[in-house]
Amino acid sequence: MTIAALNWGELSPEKFLAEYWQKKPLLIKQAFKNFEDTIPADELAGLAMEAEIESRIVSVDNKGDWQVDHGPFEDFSQYGEENWTLLVQAVNNWSRPTNSLLQPFAFIPRWRIDDVMVSFSTPNGGVGPHLDQYDVFIIQGSGKRRWQVGAPNKALSTLLPHPDLKQVSAFEPLIDEITEAGDLLYIPPNHPHNGVSIENSVNFSIGFQAPSSQELWSSFADKLIDNNLGELRFSDTARKVTDSSTLISKADQQQLKAFMLEQLEDTALFEQFIGQYLTQSHHALELLMPVNEIDADKLADILSEPEILFMPVSGLKAAITSEAEITLFLNGDSFPIDKQSLPLAELLAEQSPLTTNQVKNFNSCLKNTQLLTNVLNKGYWYIE
Ligand code: SIN
Ligand code: CO
Repeated sequence: MTIAALNWGELSPEKFLAEYWQKKPLLIKQAFKNFEDTIPADELAGLAMEAEIESRIVSVDNKGDWQVDHGPFEDFSQYGEENWTLLVQAVNNWSRPTNSLLQPFAFIPRWRIDDVMVSFSTPNGGVGPHLDQYDVFIIQGSGKRRWQVGAPNKALSTLLPHPDLKQVSAFEPLIDEITEAGDLLYIPPNHPHNGVSIENSVNFSIGFQAPSSQELWSSFADKLIDNNLGELRFSDTARKVTDSSTLISKADQQQLKAFMLEQLEDTALFEQFIGQYLTQSHHALELLMPVNEIDADKLADILSEPEILFMPVSGLKAAITSEAEITLFLNGDSFPIDKQSLPLAELLAEQSPLTTNQVKNFNSCLKNTQLLTNVLNKGYWYIE
């Protein structure tokens, strides 16, 4: 399923990035013409019954008491007809049509996108007014919802109506609209927002990832430690007599800082680290490992069938780096790429399904054969 192009109206991706991205919320009415839900509500409920898929139900009773239940769920009948919403994370890892909702946002690199969260809300259902730390695009699917979005405001207080539910106090909305199928809402980080369902409605939230500095430092340290890359010790062969034996001098501090930064400045090491870090999925992924390992002969056998497709598993995070060495990253795994394999690596990173003929053409080069068998054996690609 390919979703229709995003209808920007007066805007363009360039204007959007310059004027709105991380700055101002935006509602584009009918951004997607004739939009249809990429997953039916009963299938979404089915995903919420799976243990490895993160889901929750947020409900509010007539007294205004909030409740949060975490999946997996066995049945939904206790929740009744209104006042609740079911939220399922990373639906794009399980639903290929939902994964295709990422296509219109390819003007932002894939590593910056985390997942597509899908919510099904009954009348008056929602999670209450709150802030998120990440940018989000929300596509309104079937049904109608009232969305209010405000500006960041330090005067807002944090409320905890339930230990698992962080909300904020009432805010002044900049956007206050009823969204309908195909409308697109953009909410920058830390902008208070509240979506209250008017009727049964479905929302698709394209959530972004933005690592914190402490997450990056800590993962970089893990990378050094796991690979014993930080065992070299500080040395100071040019030391001069000190005036104060108790002072950690400015010069010493600078030398120590430069010593620490040396590894961050190592482009090959940094690319390995950042490619692996940014393509690691934060949610369970269905890898499709072949029963028997596929070698070059087996691949040639497979290619004697004319009508097969080579497919990536849904939701895979992929990237290429090329500053030091060309490397393809899939789900935190790295594959060194020779120059002649770059066209294949690019198709793998874009996650285009490959036809028998395409693969046959690539397969005439040994490096391509190795790359193909590698991604198939790791379960990132499979044969359909
Ligand atoms: C929802 O779809 O109910 C929640 C989306 C959000 O506010 O982040
Ligand atoms: Co939110």
